Amino acid sequence: MDITYRNAPANEPERQYYFIEEARKLVQKKSEELGRQLTYNVTTFGCQMNARDSEKLRGILDEIGYVGVDSEECDFVLYNTCTVRENANKKVYGRLGYLNTLKKKNPSMMIALCGCMMQEEDVVARIRESYRFVDLVFGTHNIYKFAELFYEALLSDGMVVEILKETDQIVEELPVERKYRFKSGVNIMFGCNNFCSYCIVPYVRGRERSRRPEEIVSEIEGLVSDGVVEVMLLGQNVNSYGKGLEEDVSFAKLLKMVADIEGLKRVRFMTPHPKDFSDDVLEVIADNPKICRHIHLPLQSGSTDILRKMNRHYTKEDYLALVDKIRARIPDIAITTDIIVGFPGETEEDFLETMDVVERVGYDSAFTFIYSKRTGTPAAAMEDQIAEDVIKDRFDRLLKSVQELGAMRATAHSGETVDVLVEEINRQDANMLTGRMSNNSTVHFVGGERLIGQIVKVKLVECKGFYYIGEMVFD
Ligand code: SAH
Ligand code: SF4
Ligand code: F3S
Repeated sequence: MDITYRNAPANEPERQYYFIEEARKLVQKKSEELGRQLTYNVTTFGCQMNARDSEKLRGILDEIGYVGVDSEECDFVLYNTCTVRENANKKVYGRLGYLNTLKKKNPSMMIALCGCMMQEEDVVARIRESYRFVDLVFGTHNIYKFAELFYEALLSDGMVVEILKETDQIVEELPVERKYRFKSGVNIMFGCNNFCSYCIVPYVRGRERSRRPEEIVSEIEGLVSDGVVEVMLLGQNVNSYGKGLEEDVSFAKLLKMVADIEGLKRVRFMTPHPKDFSDDVLEVIADNPKICRHIHLPLQSGSTDILRKMNRHYTKEDYLALVDKIRARIPDIAITTDIIVGFPGETEEDFLETMDVVERVGYDSAFTFIYSKRTGTPAAAMEDQIAEDVIKDRFDRLLKSVQELGAMRATAHSGETVDVLVEEINRQDANMLTGRMSNNSTVHFVGGERLIGQIVKVKLVECKGFYYIGEMVFD
């Protein structure tokens, strides 16, 4: 082992700061030789948890002395991958071919892969065999070791691969480079214990581990003093937050603690599992105007039979009763969902149950997915996988219904004046701004760049189906 490794502290995060420093020296030297700064590009596939992880990876690269760029024609490309559905997977392989052509033009370019897809053995085997130009591969459990692994890759000629099967570590306090100055995701837990029968997440993210509430609150206080006004609390099943911690803390308690943080203006969370949605959580939301009027409540299927096969632990009636309870307590709340079409054994009758729930709930919006068979999950081994054309037909009918009902619900808000967090300059029209309402809808209105990151009052003038055109109101 190299001398630098012997000097490295054993404790985290000190160890990673040590490697950041060592890598920084190497990078500085290389940069002087080349007479220019070294550049990086990090691409995120998948969910908000991956997006948050990418911010941490960028933070480390910035500390090491690389400069972030939009283009993949740069010195270090990192793909933070997702494997929740097959097409997320395919995208990565497709783009790797393109990276290879870039690397041929710039032989000192480095390519790294991390994230959920890398936790699958057959994926790593395929990369070792057919994508030998990749320099570094690591997984979800050792992402906090990125500085160390990157340093190793800088020194190594071959591919550096480190994948851990599991971890109980939660390493805090590493550098982060946020995408938005004024809002941030905050992990409150990692992993998942639910094992929905179609889902690969528990296999690639490991067992559920909650962060201590003091750590979460102190991270958010730090973010607030750095200009953040909105946080999104992230976990695969936020309703089971706190299990296994020494402290007696539930998601309801945590939500309240976070909402009480001075200077923080908005709190969101994702994702609550319907089976664990407690009355306490509902009360905390109802009592705290800072907690946004939006609940993402994944349905997956409206058929009790299919829900049982999915291992979701609720029935169609349980779900509808929960929606009624939420609406009775917080009438102005937006409810959105995730639905899977074509789960093994799904009959036309089962599908019609899903359509029935969609009509009865009237979602503000819904993500609809075609069932994707994930190797190693119980559903992949189930008989009666559904034919593609049948799925496609159901998917189209569902999408149409979801869109029509969503547009109808949105119209109801026209004419209201609402608080809007200004997020960015409108992508189509530079004189306009785009902002987000508490209920997660977006609105476009005329305004100047300096308002980005502020909460302003906007009158919703016209509903365009999924978004609004508004006018700023000055009081
Ligand atoms: N933990 C969250 C969601 C994580 S994955 C929850 O339980 O709600 C995000 C969404 O992807 C899921 O809600 C589900 O609708 C979808 N999904 C997961 N596995 C899938 C699969 N194998 N095929 C199709 N969609 C899937
Ligand atoms: Fe997957 Fe279910 Fe866990 Fe969500 S709760 S991540 S769908 S296993
Ligand atoms: Fe994908 Fe991993 Fe998230 S599989 S959806 S990136 S937890």
